[in-house]
Amino acid sequence: MHLGIRNERSDRESRVAATPASVASFVELGFTVSIEAGSGAAAGYPDAEYADSGATVVDDLASGEPVDLLIMVTPPTEPDRTVLASNGVIVGMIDPSSTKDMLTGWGNEGITSISIEMLPRTTLAQSMDALSSQATAAGYAAVLLGVTELPKFMPMLVTAAGTIPPANVLILGVGVAGLQAIATAKRLGAIVYAYDIRPETKEQVESLGGRFIEAATQEMDEGGYARAVDEETAAKQREALASAVADADLIITTAQVPGRQAPRLIDRSMVEAMRPGSLIIDMAASSGGNVEDSAPDEVVDVGGVTILGPTDLASRVATDASRMFARNVLELVKRMVADGSLVVDHEDPVVGPAIVAPISPSQESEPVT
Ligand code: NAI
Repeated sequence: MHLGIRNERSDRESRVAATPASVASFVELGFTVSIEAGSGAAAGYPDAEYADSGATVVDDLASGEPVDLLIMVTPPTEPDRTVLASNGVIVGMIDPSSTKDMLTGWGNEGITSISIEMLPRTTLAQSMDALSSQATAAGYAAVLLGVTELPKFMPMLVTAAGTIPPANVLILGVGVAGLQAIATAKRLGAIVYAYDIRPETKEQVESLGGRFIEAATQEMDEGGYARAVDEETAAKQREALASAVADADLIITTAQVPGRQAPRLIDRSMVEAMRPGSLIIDMAASSGGNVEDSAPDEVVDVGGVTILGPTDLASRVATDASRMFARNVLELVKRMVADGSLVVDHEDPVVGPAIVAPISPSQESEPVT
């Protein structure tokens, strides 16, 4: 079994799919490991440490032996195909919504693509849940970005030069990223308000010392996710949130509905009511945005209020985000190794739902939702 770890090709990506520690575990599982030089450098993992763990450091995976398993943080592109053996497997953040056609073609040629984002979020798969691990990293990084960009202190300070009031932080969307953002902002001494459409989040917010904003709530779907709201509910939400938005120094929005446009929680008139110098970080900017006027990786100014839409938040804490991602991938691969070989079982309750291509006869007969 030959495992390949590629140097992530984007300038905005500092993470790596394996750490020296996870490489040592892959070697123990029976893998021969090749890693492209410099893959872990930006995350603080030098080539020498991978070599010490048993990996061979290569300039380019494509010029070596074909790879049976290729692991990755960012979605696959055509050049990845050239490194794979004829029945190779890829595992990582595959983003099936944008890569499915390409991966279906690869599937017809014998390549199996496993999307770590599509693993069921059950207890059984918790240690492999890269959506949660990377959202944890991103929620943390969002607050730190806010702290450095905001021209204010977060905690209350009583000084000889006067008393500085604490910052008001508002978190909209209390999933994994939102919860981490609340916890981080609280540790920094801010007053934290939060809101989510799912009613059970009220208790979670309060248990972290946040104050829950009462606005429309509705039960989640059977998968544990929020349902999309109709325009009437969305308008009521915005009305209920307006005064908390106006009072906030820093707002972090994380609201998402899988497979849909992100819900619009803040419109321009709400931004215009905020104090100049305030800051909004829209973590949903790349899926449509929770905030009118936000754009992925852009800095937007609306009447002195800055709106950021960073898409690289997890990458900003690359050492630990990679450590968690590497563990998620390792646990998933462990589940697929039997008697020293890699076996992709389409019927496995954890792996099966995450296979993007090729699809099995049973997947073919399932209705597409
Ligand atoms: P996500 O990234 O899909 O969405 C973020 C948040 O946005 C969610 O809390 C959602 O309720 C909220 N949201 C969506 N539409 C909204 C609206 N119109 N207004 C306000 N808020 C809105 O969520 P994430 O972080 O991926 O988690 C989703 C669910 O999965 C949660 O229920 C979480 O508890 C559950 N989960 C379960 C795990 C398990 O092992 N069983 C592991 C991780 C998450």
